[in-house]
Amino acid sequence: MNILFVGDVFGSAGRHIVREHLPHVVETNEVDLLVINGENAAGGFGITPSLAEELFDLGAHVITTGNHVWDKKEIFEYMGVPADSHGRGRRILRPANYAVNTPGFGFYQGELPTGQAYAVINMQGRVFMSSCDDPFRKADELLSKITAKVVLVDIHAEASSEKAALAWYLDGRVTAVLGTHTHVPTADQRILHNGTAYQTDVGMSGPYDSVIGVETELVLAKFLTGMPGKFEAAKGNAKMCAALIECDGGTGRATRIQRIMLGE
Ligand SMILES: [Fe+2]
Ligand SMILES: [Fe+2]
Repeated sequence: MNILFVGDVFGSAGRHIVREHLPHVVETNEVDLLVINGENAAGGFGITPSLAEELFDLGAHVITTGNHVWDKKEIFEYMGVPADSHGRGRRILRPANYAVNTPGFGFYQGELPTGQAYAVINMQGRVFMSSCDDPFRKADELLSKITAKVVLVDIHAEASSEKAALAWYLDGRVTAVLGTHTHVPTADQRILHNGTAYQTDVGMSGPYDSVIGVETELVLAKFLTGMPGKFEAAKGNAKMCAALIECDGGTGRATRIQRIMLGE
């Protein structure tokens, strides 16, 4: 089976480029499972219910997020659905290792129309990020409950070392460990020894004439003066970044991972 994971969709430039390229990538690669990180869909900061709907309309089975998940308050209620629901509000995730009783869920298990079971886990790193629970032990806990063989993990983290460590920790237990959050794609996609596909960062789907998505001038002013200022999403040189994973639906073992970058 084929899984496509699309990196952080950033602002309107990201949404446009994904809308333009996703349909043909899904069709030509016969994608069965589509997962999109949408944490920056709303102008770079968070995601609204209507933008989540837009990503679901494009065919996403699951939307993952990260540290920006709560930037738009409207999403709290959208994600406040019962655990056993399979509706869209249940299929947008926040990191699993957030405080208990925060809205939403950090993993989803479901079935494709073919009957193929799958699970998606969203996790956040702790190095150079705001505090959250241990992603390693949290992954152990979730995997003890998940029965699907095909499991995709979005590790939303700053440090490459933490992402690589989690990938080796989960090697052979999940289908793929894919990094998000830095917005810079890394060229290290590979299959680890026990069959887990890994890429340190899939890269953002957004404007690359920018500083990780934000207007260059605004970020430069901040670095040069230290003064507060409003960050706005950039527009130019949009790319869609994604990872395409081929795996055995029966065992969940990955057999191939390909890096994708398409754009203007
Ligand atoms: Fe992001
Ligand atoms: Fe992030």
